[in-house]
Amino acid sequence: MSLMEQIRESEKYISNQLNGDKPSIGLILGSGLGVLADEIEGAITIPYQEIPHFPQSTVEGHKGQLVIGQLQGQRVVAMQGRFHYYEGYSMQHVTFPVRVMKQLGVEKLLVTNAAGGINESFNPGDLMFIEDHINNMGDNPLIGKNVDALGARFPDMSQAYDRELINTAQQAATDLNLNVQRGVYVGNTGPTYETGSEVKMLRTLGGDAVGMSTVPEVIVANHTGIKVLGISCISNMAAGILDQPLSHDEVIETTEKVKQSFIQLVKQILQSV
Ligand code: HPA
Repeated sequence: MSLMEQIRESEKYISNQLNGDKPSIGLILGSGLGVLADEIEGAITIPYQEIPHFPQSTVEGHKGQLVIGQLQGQRVVAMQGRFHYYEGYSMQHVTFPVRVMKQLGVEKLLVTNAAGGINESFNPGDLMFIEDHINNMGDNPLIGKNVDALGARFPDMSQAYDRELINTAQQAATDLNLNVQRGVYVGNTGPTYETGSEVKMLRTLGGDAVGMSTVPEVIVANHTGIKVLGISCISNMAAGILDQPLSHDEVIETTEKVKQSFIQLVKQILQSV
C-alpha cells in the first residue's frame, strides 16, 4: 500500500469518530507534558494501537493516544505521547502522525519537548520558544522518493519555526507575565544523554538546548505546509554544565513542576492563534 493510501486510511479511521468536527491545530506533547491533553473538552480519545498504520509508543511517561476536542474554543488534535527515533522507529514512522494531521486539516502545529539546557543563562524549569533547530540526527524523514502530493522535493527550512507564531506566543507569555527563553534546539538521536564534550561542541555550533525529538516532526510539518510553533521545557542543564549526572527521573520531576505554567501558556497562545 502506498504512503498516501496509508495516510488516508488512518485519517478516515479518525474522522469517522469525529462527526464532522475536524481539528485545525495539532499538539505534540513531550515527556511529562501530556497532561495538557487532559484539559481538552468534549474529548474523543483514540489509542494509537487502534489507528491503522500508526506505530506504538513504548517509553515510560509517554501515553500513546490521540485526544481530539476543544481547547480555548479551538479544535485541536493532541498526541499524548510521541514516537522517538531511539525507540527503533524509522523517521517515516516517527513522522507519520504529522502527515495524518495534515490530512485531517491541521494548519498549525505546536510541538513540545523536554530538553537539556546548553545556554548557561538558562535554568531548569525555564520554557524556551524554539527559534530554529539543528538536525544532528544523521537522518532525515524525507530521504527516499518524494511524494509530490505531500510536498516539494527540496523544502525550504529558512523559517522552520513560524515567526508570526513566535510573536503571538511571546505576546501570550507577556500577558501572563511569564519569562520565556528563546533559542536553537539541537535534535540528537539519543537514547544516551550527551557527554560533556558533546555539549561543548553543540554550544560552539550555536545550540541552546538539546533533546531527542521534534526535529523529524518539524521537517515533515514544513514539507507538508503546516506552520510550526515549538516550545521546549528545560528539564535539566545538559551534561557537563553542572557537576552532576543526568537522569530521566530529573527530567520528569522538572516537567512536573512547570506543567502548570506550561498549560497556562499554551491556553493563552491558543486564544490568539
Ligand atoms: N539531553 C538530551 N535530551 C534531553 C535532555 C538532555 O539533557 N533532557 C531532556 N531531554
